[in-house]
This record gives sequence, C-alpha cells and structure tokens, in this order.
Amino acid sequence: MGSPSGYAVHPWILYLCITLLTCYVVLDLLANHSDLAFPSLLASCSSSLLLPSAGRAVLHNTSIKEPDICQTLQGHLDINLTAFQESHLDLTPKNLATLTKLPEDPWKQMKWVGQAATCRVKGHYIERFDPALNFRRGFALRFASDVEDKTHVLPWLLASRVDLNSRSRRVYLDLGANAFSTSITWFMRMYPVDFTEVHAFEVDAHLLSKPQRGFDQDSNYAGANQWSLMVRQVPGIPAWMLTRIHVYNQFVSDADDVEKKAVNITRFIKEELCLTEQDTVVVKMDIEGSEWPILDRWMRDADMAAIVDELFVEVHYDHRSMRGYHWARFAPTSREKALTLLAQLRLHGFFAHAWP
Ligand SMILES: *[C@@H]1O[C@H](CO)[C@@H](O)[C@H](O)[C@H]1NC(C)=O
Ligand SMILES: *[C@@H]1O[C@H](CO)[C@@H](O)[C@H](O)[C@H]1NC(C)=O
Ligand SMILES: *[C@@H]1O[C@H](CO)[C@@H](O)[C@H](O)[C@H]1NC(C)=O
Repeated sequence: MGSPSGYAVHPWILYLCITLLTCYVVLDLLANHSDLAFPSLLASCSSSLLLPSAGRAVLHNTSIKEPDICQTLQGHLDINLTAFQESHLDLTPKNLATLTKLPEDPWKQMKWVGQAATCRVKGHYIERFDPALNFRRGFALRFASDVEDKTHVLPWLLASRVDLNSRSRRVYLDLGANAFSTSITWFMRMYPVDFTEVHAFEVDAHLLSKPQRGFDQDSNYAGANQWSLMVRQVPGIPAWMLTRIHVYNQFVSDADDVEKKAVNITRFIKEELCLTEQDTVVVKMDIEGSEWPILDRWMRDADMAAIVDELFVEVHYDHRSMRGYHWARFAPTSREKALTLLAQLRLHGFFAHAWP
C-alpha cells in the first residue's frame, strides 16, 4: 500500500516531451506576444475578407453617381416589361429564360436570396424584384416550405446598412397585422432596431388584441443540464414590450370613415403620430388591396418618402399562379401592375420590398 509502482519511463520520452513543450512556449511567445514580424497568416486572411477601401466607400456613399436609367421606371423595373408584353408572354421563369436564352442560372439553383437590383434606393443596394416567382423566391424554388417565408429580405434591410437605431423615436407600423405571432413578432426579433413604438392595425379583434405578458427570463429559464438548450415554453411577450404596443382594430384606408371603422393612414402618420423624417419609421403593409390608393397618394407626396425609411408591402394582384390563395378577387390588377407599382415606389425614393 502506498509504495510507488515499479515501472520506469524511458528518459528519451521525457526529453521529447520537454522539447515539444519548449518549442510550444517559444512559438507562442513569437506569434502572440512579440512585435517580431511573424508571418501573420491570420491577419492577411482577415484583411482579405474586408472590402478594399474603395469598395467600402461605395457601400456608404449616398452621393454616388447612378446610371441615368435609374432616374426612370425602366431602371427600377429591371426588366423591359413593354417588350415582354409585346411578345404576348406571361412572366414565368420558363418564359423569361427562353426569351432571353439564359444559361442555367446559378442564382436560381443555390441562392435563397436574390441578386441586387440595377438601381439603388436612397443610395443603397436593394434586392432585384422577382415577379416570375411571385416575389417569393424561397418558396417558389422550394427552398422553404412556407409561403410566408421571409428569409430572402433579411440581407437587404436598410437598418443593416444605416443607423436607424440611434434616433430617439423608432416606430414600427404594422398595417394589417393579423395575429401577433406573425409579422409583429418577426420584426421585433429580426429587424435590427429596438423599436420604441409599435402601432398595429388589424380590423379583426379576434385575430389581434393586445397580448398578455408571457415572458420573463426567470420563468423561461431551464437550469444547466443536458437539455439546457431547451426552453420550457415558447417565449411570449415581455413586459417592457407591452407598454410600447398600441393595437387598433380598425381598417387601414386612404380616407377616414367612422362608420366603416376606417382610418386615413396618411393623416394618422402625419397628424396623430406626428412622425417626421427625424424619426425611424418602418412600415409593413398587408391590407388586401387597399394598398393601391394609399401608395398612389404616398408617391405624390414627397413628405411620405422622407418619413418612411423602409416599406414592406404585400401587393395583391390577380394571376393564376396565386389563385390557390384566393387572389382572383384582386382582378383587374395584374402581376405586371404589381411589379410596376413596386418599381414606381423605388423610383419615388421608397426603400420598398415585396412582402413577404
Ligand atoms: C461619394 O462619391 C462622390 C462621387 O463619386 C465623390 O465625389 C465623393 O467624394 C464620395 N464621398 C465619400 C464620402 O466617399
Ligand atoms: C423596351 O421595349 C420596347 C418595345 O420593344 C422598346 O421600344 C424600348 O426601347 C425598350 N426599352 C428599353 C429601355 O430597352
Ligand atoms: C388623408 O389624409 C391626408 C393627410 O392629411 C390628406 O391629404 C388626404 O386628402 C386624406 N385622404 C382623403 C381621401 O381625404
């Protein structure tokens, strides 16, 4: 008991260990703790990841000269719609490909997000419209199983490129909010701004009423164990957010109409919320066809393009590819008109995306 066991280690093994340890210490000193010019592989990798300084300036320079076509609707359409319609074709991926004799398109095969548009908006890159895929490339290309998938807009958010988070009033307007767990939750989680106000319009009070408090870190915390990555419940609404949310069970409209519970949204934004271009204003609009007259008004009103920093709009149109979603009721608007509306919005300075 207690006597050392009698096996011996060959001294060469000990010498080897000491040599290896010494080498490690010397290399570590050279690499991390000295100013000696050690071949810094990591440094050159990380600097090669950065854009060259000229490229960075381009990304942030809002006075950049754009091609002349960007002063026109054609530039923002990114497709010669006239030529397309004259050839009596419908906007389908197949027709687009045969008309322009495109080779197989790597963007279509791999990329969930689309290409950049030819023209910037507010001086910043934005995604190219994809009308042939009903503006829903992730879903249409079977990258996503959900028609409501929004992944493709994530790389193009304006607030990822300009600071919309340091303005003191930061407002999210959800026009046609549906249930709380749809777009409001998405914007709260995914949009890189801490909104100080949320104004949500949904005429159906059964769909959207002010939610209950449902989250605090203590109640939703699972102690450290092998399942600690699992939370106990789906996170609900924290108390701080409830005080910021205002719910309106009213129609979003172009004109006030008390009997029909309709609100003139332009007046509401300007005269009730008193929003100005000093504020951060992000608007999501999904109002079942009422977007047409409202957006028409906004394009004739330069104040609105200045007040609204970023606009997400579901433009409703009649096209047979959308009839499974009961969109026939939006006739006579067509997908070509929807594309034109979106391009006109950009031409008028709205950083506009098709939603979702
Ligand atoms: C932005 O681009 C314009 C035109 O190319 C140039 O004159 C100006 O110096 C640039 N501004 C910055 C901040 O890089
Ligand atoms: C678009 O097509 C029409 C008709 O083919 C043509 O007249 C027009 O010049 C084209 N526009 C552009 C910008 O190429
Ligand atoms: C809605 O409000 C705006 C801003 O106050 C106003 O200019 C417009 O005329 C109103 N719309 C209608 C249909 O009255």
